[in-house]
Order: sequence, then structure tokens, then C-alpha cells
Amino acid sequence: MSIWLLIFTLVAFLLGAYIYTWSSKDRKYVTSRSVASAYDNWTNDALLERLWGDHIHLGYYQKRFSKKDFREAKVDFVHELIRWSGLDQLPRGSQIIDIGCGIGGSARILAKDYGFDVLGISISPEQIRRAKELTPSDLSCQFEVMDALDLKIENGFFDGVWSVEAGPHMVDKKRYADEMLRVLRPGGVLAVADWNIRDPINGKMNHLERGVMHHLLDQWAHPEFSSMNGFKKSLLDSRFCGGPVEMADWTVFTIPSWLDSVFEGIRRPHAIIGLGPAAFFKGLREIPTILLMHWAFAKGLMKFGVFRSRG
Ligand SMILES: C[S@@+](CC[C@H](N)C(=O)[O-])C[C@H]1O[C@@H](n2cnc3c(N)ncnc32)[C@H](O)[C@@H]1O
Repeated sequence: MSIWLLIFTLVAFLLGAYIYTWSSKDRKYVTSRSVASAYDNWTNDALLERLWGDHIHLGYYQKRFSKKDFREAKVDFVHELIRWSGLDQLPRGSQIIDIGCGIGGSARILAKDYGFDVLGISISPEQIRRAKELTPSDLSCQFEVMDALDLKIENGFFDGVWSVEAGPHMVDKKRYADEMLRVLRPGGVLAVADWNIRDPINGKMNHLERGVMHHLLDQWAHPEFSSMNGFKKSLLDSRFCGGPVEMADWTVFTIPSWLDSVFEGIRRPHAIIGLGPAAFFKGLREIPTILLMHWAFAKGLMKFGVFRSRG
């Protein structure tokens, strides 16, 4: 990393921390409404989309320090998870639900490249509006506002369930697991990616880690994170779970995303500057959280878990 990138990151961190302290707007999780309103705001100010494209998830890199275009890495992530989970074994025309679909980046790939019929759901009405705007009318992709903890869908309707990085916002992880498996047909494929906290049996949090965790939860409307084993157990405990649950730690393949997401601001300055000074300061506010996320994943306090199972 060049010295200028280091200096930029440090200055951005300090400025961002200052703006965060000074800012009165809080994004602490209270109910799923707080999640919806955080994503409505992120969608409407267009900052995330301009910087990260239409995928609000981490990218997939071959190894920890590999260089790759951030947006390309996000698309690669989707294909890697589709392959790893076995979703690619389903025939074209299969019915897939994307739970917590953001603005539809994954849903469009599932429909376009694999020929699936996709329903994307999100708690954020503005994300659903934007997902519809971004989706060409000839793609078999629908979007609806729906709560993942109360899916208005009959049992066993879908051949595949896909959910990427939505779990950290769920206040009831068991219900999240249970609802995903309930709408999956027997033998259907489940593919989930989640941010997970270190299992307490691998070391209790120290004082510094507790402080960082507090920030990571409150800044991005997260009620809590589950551990990888904890979430695996939630899936196994569901009466709708039809197969073994397998999991893998993809921290090493995804961790470059954190610094890359800050550097995107340098690589595409027009993306932020074009939105005006308010967006610039909002962007700065995110930098301390992004860097603390990087720290937490690098130190093993957080883990990027992927899970696959069968209905
Ligand atoms: C980090 S974003 C990931 C978006 C998308 N999966 C992607 O990869 O681009 C988290 C998503 O989960 C959604 N979400 C959070 N809580 C939800 C809930 N209770 N019901 C439905 N969607 C929810 C958010 O609205 C957002 O779309």
C-alpha cells in the first residue's frame, strides 16, 4: 500500500470519527423499522450505489492480498457462492428467493446467468423501488417489500433460498433460519452468507473488543451477530431442515473488500463529489466503521461464514 493511501486512510478515519461524534443521526437497531429506514436513506442518497455498484456485499478474492476490481470481486462472490452451495445444479426455471435482496444485484445474476425465476425481498421500500428500476423488463425477477422474519409465502414454495449479509440485521436468528427453511421445498438448496462473531468458546471478548463490537452493532443497525456455530445450530434446530448443514469460513477470501471499499472513494472521486458536500461528509462518517470491520475480521473477532443445506 502506498504511503499516500495510508495517509488518506488515517485522515479519513479521523475526520469520519469526528463527523460521527458530531452527527446527531443514530442508526442503532430498535426494530426492523430502523433497518428499513437506514437502507431507505442509503438508497436515496445514492452514495452506496455510486461507490459499490448494485451489490451491497463483500467481494471474493483469491487470497488475502490479491488485487482485483472491487465490483468484479462482488460479481465473483455471487458465482462462487452459487457454485459452493450447489445452486448451480438446479435446472433453469427454478424458483429462487433472495432474502434481504438490497437493490437486486444478486437476484439479477441468478435470473440472467442461471435462468432462475427470482423473487427478491427486502425490508426497505426504497431498495425495492430502486431494484425494480434497475431490472430490465425481460428478466424473470420480481421484487417485494417483506419482512424476512414473517415471509408471506407458503411452505416449500421455493427450489432455492439465497440470503447474503442480511442475517446481521435479524433480531431473531432462529426465526430467520426457520423462515428460510420453511419456504424451501424438501430437497431444495439453501445458500447463506453471514457476518459472524467469534464463538465465545474460542475466547471471550476483551475490553477493547467489546468497545469495537458496540460500535459495529450500533452504526449499521445490527441487533447482534451470531457465531458460525450458533447459526449452524439455528438451521439444524429448524423442523424444516432436511439435510446436513455445512459451513465454511470465507474471511480470507473477502477481507480485502473492507479496504477496497474505502479506496473506491479515491479511485472514483467523482462518484462522491458529484453528489455534493452532504454526501461527501456522509461517506466520511462510514470510514471508521469500515476500518473497524476490517480490524475485527483481521483479528478473528468477526468471521465471514457461508452455509449450505437442504430443505
Ligand atoms: C448488507 S445488505 C445486503 C443486500 C444484498 N443481499 C446484497 O448482497 O446486495 C442487507 C439487506 O438485508 C435487508 N434486511 C435487513 N433486515 C431485513 C428484514 N427483517 N427483512 C427483509 N430484509 C431485511 C436489508 O434491507 C438489506 O437489503
